[in-house]
Order: sequence, then structure tokens, then C-alpha cells
Amino acid sequence: MMKQKKSVKVGRNDACPCGSGKKYKNCCMGRSAPPPESLKKIYQKRYNIRLKSAADVEKIRRAGELVMATFKEVEAVLAPGLVTDEINRIVHDFTLDHGAIPAPLNYRGFPKSVCVSINEVICHGIPGPRALADGDIVNVDITSILDGYYADANQTYFIGTPSEDARKIVRVARICLKEGLAMIRPGNCIGDIGWAIQQFAESQGCSVVREFVGHGVGFNFHEAPQVPHFGRKHTGVPLAPGMVFTVEPMINLGQHRLRILDDKWTAVTADGSLSAQFEQTVLVTEDGYESLTPFEL
Ligand code: MF3
Ligand code: CO
Ligand code: CO
Repeated sequence: MMKQKKSVKVGRNDACPCGSGKKYKNCCMGRSAPPPESLKKIYQKRYNIRLKSAADVEKIRRAGELVMATFKEVEAVLAPGLVTDEINRIVHDFTLDHGAIPAPLNYRGFPKSVCVSINEVICHGIPGPRALADGDIVNVDITSILDGYYADANQTYFIGTPSEDARKIVRVARICLKEGLAMIRPGNCIGDIGWAIQQFAESQGCSVVREFVGHGVGFNFHEAPQVPHFGRKHTGVPLAPGMVFTVEPMINLGQHRLRILDDKWTAVTADGSLSAQFEQTVLVTEDGYESLTPFEL
């Protein structure tokens, strides 16, 4: 058994361990959690993280509901022969019809309203004239801006009958997200999430993409903090209620290295192996997390 570290007692007139700069007795003493307003300031200052209020969360939850409704529309038509531009059209139209904006469109020059990534494409696939084929796996990554708030999620689907390899990588990627999310609660750190994901992926002989990470989300598409899907336990930002971020492990059947195609967006596995991904937007709560883009894992 590991030796327990002795806790050092904080005196009432000492600086509060929450980092507010106030005396302990005037701040967190006797409270189970620091007061939200001071916590907001601390996370902003120390980590550039914008904690979300209950009202913010409600808006992100609404955006998340729209994202999940958009998946239903896409799922209804996914089949061999479907052209990926048609997925783009469905996501684009459905989003606008619900008073929202597809976040990818024109984001840093991205030309379409959704990312569609087939087989060895890791992420950021650009919809076009390619038709889905029997045996493909396809990742659809949807981000909507509703009432100024962002929610971001993705899922990988089988088209027709999957190969053994396809079944394996989709199963492993799905469990990776589940294992990562299970680490989310105050008291744990950002690094614990990536640690859990890497552990599971590598235990299955798969690998974790390093170049793309999860991210804070809500007020913007990509906010602090970064959420790596690999790393060490007890490292990184301590998780606090009001944090909203994505976890979105990209898992390769072969090696983790990637290559970007000449279109400057499409990321593919360097070894040509299959890659799968699942993503949810989550809120850190007092005792765990709540998914704002929930689906079964
Ligand atoms: N949705 C992706 C993510 O999970 C980002 C896509 S950026 C785009 O962070 F420009 F390609 F849309
Ligand atoms: Co994301
Ligand atoms: Co996404």
C-alpha cells in the first residue's frame, strides 16, 4: 500500500489554499467548496478557464440537445452509397432550420458545416463527392452554436457490415471515452482523463493520437483548457464545478502518428490503419459530471 501523505494543517490566518490571496478564515474555512465567484476568478486568472454559470450551462445544454437531434437526422440516412456532401447538407439545413449556426463552416477556413472522417481519416474530413461504401466506418463531428453557445460531439458509425478490425477500433474508441469520462469529478485533474484513456487504448494494442486534444467549450468553439487523451495521473488543472469541456479521444488501430493531406485539414493515420473517435461535451458537477451531449457508450 502507498504511504498516505500527511496533510499540513492550514491556520485560520494563513493564506487560503484556494489561491484567492485572502486569509483562510475569511475565505474557504468551514466550507466544503470555495465560493463560486472567487473560484471563477481563480480559474480565469490561473488557467484562463471560464467557468460556466447555471444560466450558461442551460444554454449549452440546449445547443447540445440540438446537436443530438442532428445526429438522429444523419443516422436516418447513413447507408452504403450516401455521398458525404449529403451529410453536410442535412447538418447544415437542420441546424439553420433550428435557429442555430454550424460552427465548422468558415472556422479557420474550414469549407463545410460538419466533419466527416472515413476509415483511416482521424478527423477534420471535408464532406465532398465520396460515397460511403459497405464496410466503411465513418465519424460525424457536429458542433452547433445556439443563442451564442457551443456544444460539440462526434460518433463513429458502421456502414453496412463491419470487418473485425472495424468492430475492434470502434469498440475501443467508445470505451476510451467512457473510461475518460469516468475520471471526471472535483478532486481529480485533467491529466487523470488522458491517463485512463491511454491505459485502456494501449492495453488493447491500439494507440492514442497526440496532436489533437479535447478542449473547453461553450462561449467559443475552442477554449482553455486543453484535454489531452494521454498522459499521467495527478497532473494538469484540478477539475472544478462549472468547467465545461470536451473529451474526444482519437484512437488508431496501428501507430499514433498522423499526416495532414494537401487540403490542409484532413488528418490520416501515417500507417493507413483505421481510426475511430467519440466525443461529448461535459459539465463538471459537485460530485462528478453531466454530459450536455449525452449518448450511450
Ligand atoms: N469539432 C472538432 C472538435 O471536436 C473541430 C473541428 S474544426 C473544423 O474540436 F474546422 F474542422 F470544423
Ligand atoms: Co471538440
Ligand atoms: Co467535435
